[in-house]
Amino acid sequence: MPDMPNTPVTVNQNIRPLNTKINEKGNLEISGCDTVDLVEKYGTPLYVMDEVTLRTIAREYKEAFKDYKKVNMMYASKALMTAQIAKILHSEGFGFDVVSGGEIYTVNKAGVNMEMTTFNGNNKTTDELLLALELGVGRVSVDNFLELSLLNEVAKSFDKVQKVLLRITPGIECHTHEYIQTGHLDSKFGFDLVQIDEAIELILKEFTNLEITGLHAHIGSQIFETKVYYDEIGVLLREMKRINDKFDLNLNEINMGGGLGITYMESDCPPSVYTIADVIKKSIKDHCEMYDIDEPVLFIEPGRSIVGTAGVTLYTVGSSKQVPNGRKYVAVDGGMADNPRPSMYGAKYEAVIANGKKEEKMQKVTIAGRFCESGDILIKDIELNSPEAGDVLCVFNTGAYGYSMSSNYNRVLKPKMILVNNSQSDIIVKRETYEQLVQNDCLL
Ligand code: LLP
Repeated sequence: MPDMPNTPVTVNQNIRPLNTKINEKGNLEISGCDTVDLVEKYGTPLYVMDEVTLRTIAREYKEAFKDYKKVNMMYASKALMTAQIAKILHSEGFGFDVVSGGEIYTVNKAGVNMEMTTFNGNNKTTDELLLALELGVGRVSVDNFLELSLLNEVAKSFDKVQKVLLRITPGIECHTHEYIQTGHLDSKFGFDLVQIDEAIELILKEFTNLEITGLHAHIGSQIFETKVYYDEIGVLLREMKRINDKFDLNLNEINMGGGLGITYMESDCPPSVYTIADVIKKSIKDHCEMYDIDEPVLFIEPGRSIVGTAGVTLYTVGSSKQVPNGRKYVAVDGGMADNPRPSMYGAKYEAVIANGKKEEKMQKVTIAGRFCESGDILIKDIELNSPEAGDVLCVFNTGAYGYSMSSNYNRVLKPKMILVNNSQSDIIVKRETYEQLVQNDCLL
C-alpha cells in the first residue's frame, strides 16, 4: 500500500536531519551548528544527534496514534541507547524495549519509570532476570520454555508475580535483509505457534509467579511493506482470541515489535509513520470485528525509525589511493568499528563533503575505513566533491545501529557523541580514553 495522498512526510522518510543546510560559509550546518566548527571543537570521528529531529519523529508517532488511546510507545533501545537519549525519549512519553542488563541499567540510570519497560531477548541470563525484577521492569517477553521456569524461580525469590508476554513466531516473512528478518517460522526467536498452548498451560498450572497479559511478535527490521503489519496484527489477535477461549483467559495486550524502515538512499521509499499507523489501526479494527473482541492494549517498539535520521557521523578525510585504471579509495578516520553496518549487511549510505570548497568538482570515489580489514569499506562508489586530506565527510542516517553496534576493533577508541539543538552542542557520550581501554586488562 503506498502512502495515502496528502499523508505528511515523516522524519523517517528524510535522508538528512530536519534543519540541515549549507550555510553562508558553504559548510554543512545542522540545527544551527556548523559541522566544520563541530569538528574543530570535538574532533572526529564524531557522532552527532539532532534533538529536534529526534523529538519530531517521537511526536509524529504519538500524533499518528492519538486516536488509539490504548497505545504504548516503547522505543527499542538496541538502536541507540545512551542515558541522554533515554531521557529525551522518556520525556516524550516513550517507554523502552530493553534486551540486556546493560540496557536495563542505563534506562534506570536515566530515571525511566521502569514499569514502562519490556524485557525482550531469546537467552536472558539469570543475572539479567534478577536485575530486571529488582529494578521492576513492567513486562518480560518470555521467549522459550527454559526462560519460563527460570523467570518463575526469580519471581518467586522476590515474592512477586511478574507480568509476562509470550513472544511468538507469527510465520510472516518480510522482504528485508536475511539477518534482520525475525518473524518467519525458521527463526531463533519465540515460541512456535504450535508450542504456545503448552507454554500457557505451564504458566497457569506450574509457574504461578508469572501472570500472562498478552502476546508479542516482531517480524523484522528496515521494512517498507505495510501488509506484513496488517497480517502480523491479524495473527496476534487470532491467537489471543483462541487462547482466551480455550483457557478462559482475558489476555488483552499485543506487542507488535518494531521494524519501520528509513530512507538511507534516495531510492528507498519507506511508508510514513501515519501510513503505518493507519494500517495497524485498520487491522486492529478489522480483526476485532472479525473475532468479536475488544480492542487490545497495543505496544509498539520502533528503534531505527526513531533515531536513524537524527544521527550523522563526521569523519576527517586522510590518505587516498588511486588504483591504476581502477577505483579511487579515500580513507577516513573511522569505519567498521563505529559503523559495522556496511561490512555486515552491505548497508548503503549517502554522504557529502561538509566543508565548503571554492569550486565543485565531483569525483567518484570509494570511502574506506581505517581498520585492518579489506572489507572495511564505508561507501562504495559515491560522487563527492573532490575529497582531499583534511576535508570533513558527513555520513547521513547513522543514528541507528551505529554506536550501539560499535566496537574497539584494532583497539581504536569509540568516538564521542554530541547532541545539537538550536545552535548549541553538548557532549552526551565522552570519547573513550586509552586509560579506559586498558582498565579491565589484568597483567599477570
Ligand atoms: N523489537 C524487537 C523485539 C526487535 O528485535 C527489534 C530489532 C526492534 C523491536 C526494533 O526494530 P527497528 O524498529 O529498529 O527495526 N542491527 C540491525 C537491526 C537489527 C534489529 C534487531 N531487532 C541493523 O543494523 O540493520
